[in-house]
Amino acid sequence: MIIPNQSNIQLDAQGRLKHFLTIDGLNQELLTEILDTAESFAGVSERTVKKVPMLRGKIITNLFFETSTRTRTTFELAAKRLSADVLSLNISASSTSKGETLLDTLRNLEAMHCDMFVVRHADSGAAHFIAQHAAPHISVINAGDGRHAHPTQAMLDMFTIRRHKGDFSPLKVAIVGDIQHSRVARSQILALNTLGVAEVRIIGPATLMPVHAETLGVKVFHSLEEGIQDVDVVIMLRLQRERMSGALLPSEHEYYQLYGLTDKRLEGAKPDAIVMHPGPINRGVEMDSQVADGPRSVILQQVSYGIAIRMAVMAMAMQRQGGAQ
Ligand code: CP
Repeated sequence: MIIPNQSNIQLDAQGRLKHFLTIDGLNQELLTEILDTAESFAGVSERTVKKVPMLRGKIITNLFFETSTRTRTTFELAAKRLSADVLSLNISASSTSKGETLLDTLRNLEAMHCDMFVVRHADSGAAHFIAQHAAPHISVINAGDGRHAHPTQAMLDMFTIRRHKGDFSPLKVAIVGDIQHSRVARSQILALNTLGVAEVRIIGPATLMPVHAETLGVKVFHSLEEGIQDVDVVIMLRLQRERMSGALLPSEHEYYQLYGLTDKRLEGAKPDAIVMHPGPINRGVEMDSQVADGPRSVILQQVSYGIAIRMAVMAMAMQRQGGAQ
């Protein structure tokens, strides 16, 4: 599917967030506003009563047409912490499985006065399609579409980096693995460059690199040992077999031999480098358990920060409606 430039439909006439479909077209000021808003929400999770009344009376519907653990649950928690009413449609048990079209499902949810759709779909462009066809008052948040974009994942990753490193400008960040099939990598590269890091590196075998990768504003490495030298942040990615057509790798074992992150290989990065992964992790394929559970891993913090980022994005999109209290 060809995805049109989405920056125009993501923002309202005043430049405020209406939908959150992609990082593409959003400026540094808006990304920083998302991070700052998330910072203000981060403390809510520490309270005895983990709720604020901001979206009381609003209805948020999770539409997950593809599997998810972290994204679906943290969106649900985030909506509940903002006091919204949350519907999580079980797609396999919904009338979609009886042949109802996506648009008919949307119209029915609109008839229930939903205010926001959070959408995950295996097709690139699905969230954009829904944003185009939803009623004008409805906000659509992309929770991952095909290999295209996963903007809230990228923002929780930026939040994690800012919490650990402060200023983005001196940082060298390496993204390692299956770049070609990764919506997370695409969104991270856009966010890191918009926030002004010194260098973004992508590391992986040629078969898992997008064509013309250099045009993304990155340095390309095929050797993990070379690419990881002196970086501040190492982001590991899963091999996305479900999106691969044909054999792009000899075997997982050989991939691990060349690209698996071990304590030894991590020695090439800066001594205070952090290790990230969006999850789910395949231990012994993209990284050792010693690294995943080690002192430099911030992988579970990424999950926790996902709640604050998703609260921020939902609150900002609803503020536009004048509905947030
Ligand atoms: N990172 C991520 O999107 O994980 P889930 O597929 O579990 O939501």
